[in-house]
Amino acid sequence: MMETSHVIRFSDSRSMDFFADNSVDLVVTSPPYPMIEIWDTVFADLDPDAGKNLELQNGWAAFELMHKTLDDVWQEVCRVLKPGGFACINIGDAVRKIGDVFCLYPNHSRIIRAFVKQGMFPLPAVLWRKQTNAPNKFMGSGMLPAGAYVTLEHEYILIFRKGEKRLFKNPQERENRQESSYFWEERNQWFSDVWFDLKGLRQQLTDKNLRKRSGAFPFVLAYRLINMYSVFGDTVLDPFAGTGTTLLAAMTAGRSSVGVELEKEFYPAFEKKAANIVPFARQIVETRIHDHVDFAARRSQEGKPLKYTNEHYGFGVMTRQEIRMRLFCPVNVEETEKGSFVVSHRQAQACSRPDSPESLNDNPPGPPVQKSLF
Ligand SMILES: C[S@@+](CC[C@H](N)C(=O)[O-])C[C@H]1O[C@@H](n2cnc3c(N)ncnc32)[C@H](O)[C@@H]1O
Repeated sequence: MMETSHVIRFSDSRSMDFFADNSVDLVVTSPPYPMIEIWDTVFADLDPDAGKNLELQNGWAAFELMHKTLDDVWQEVCRVLKPGGFACINIGDAVRKIGDVFCLYPNHSRIIRAFVKQGMFPLPAVLWRKQTNAPNKFMGSGMLPAGAYVTLEHEYILIFRKGEKRLFKNPQERENRQESSYFWEERNQWFSDVWFDLKGLRQQLTDKNLRKRSGAFPFVLAYRLINMYSVFGDTVLDPFAGTGTTLLAAMTAGRSSVGVELEKEFYPAFEKKAANIVPFARQIVETRIHDHVDFAARRSQEGKPLKYTNEHYGFGVMTRQEIRMRLFCPVNVEETEKGSFVVSHRQAQACSRPDSPESLNDNPPGPPVQKSLF
């Protein structure tokens, strides 16, 4: 049995003095995007000069002031991260016409610069391909040359590390790392630098309207990153928590989490989803196991059986690193006080393939969820 804690705080993440220096293992987040209109008022509230410059049509000055606001959060992120800890930042660039000038505001490169200034090491980033069928995705002069613009159908997941590689110092830490490993075939997909449409996997954990207003990212995005860059029992921080997707993913993955968010209006939906995390997480985790069992069966049929055996489940695995791997599922969640949750986890069992994870869906049933979630 393992216990994790999850806290959401309603405050401004430009100051996170409730965290000691070097106390967080991983940051997974997505800030409001500078120069994207839905976030204009948020930035203007945080720095009225940013709003004034927008009104005066000083696009680049507004862009810089919005990023200066984010810089204060990044500074806190770098302070609270432990040496060897990762920060994963989901961000998209913006295209916008200000006055007569249409241009791209490259948020991702400005954020890389901010992290490098803080002494963080940038690592290869993920390009998240977000294809759209919207008829207005092609911008500019249409079929007439020299006046049209390519579409903007991707975002970034920027990845930074604080200092050198994380050390796993004693046998217990090394054992926990081994148990927290992921499957070989998951590695091949997760550690590719282009993630194709996570759209089909848009989280079932957030209703559509709320998601649109909040700019929520898909559950699977946070869940993957947490599995890739932390181990069981670690603490994950999201300084722009929104609807709490990162916290829900941490609950599912057996990590503790803290979210910081300005808007209290997202709380009731988060609270409801957190209360229902047990059946949802179970389906997520069991689907991973089933996908692996299917993979092993296909390899066997092809005459290429897996070489090693996992000690906890008895199924074949591709590499020695997966022998000690196990997966945990939440079995109980308790809201100990408003905004604070304690989750108990137990090792997941291999059993029959679960139904699709729709039980937490607020919306009426839609098209069937894809068979494989990951
Ligand atoms: C892109 S959304 C994050 C959505 C989140 N990933 C989710 O899945 O719901 C950015 C969030 O940051 C919040 N925010 C903006 N500035 C903030 C600040 N200084 N401190 C805390 N939260 C902030 C906004 O209210 C918004 O909810």
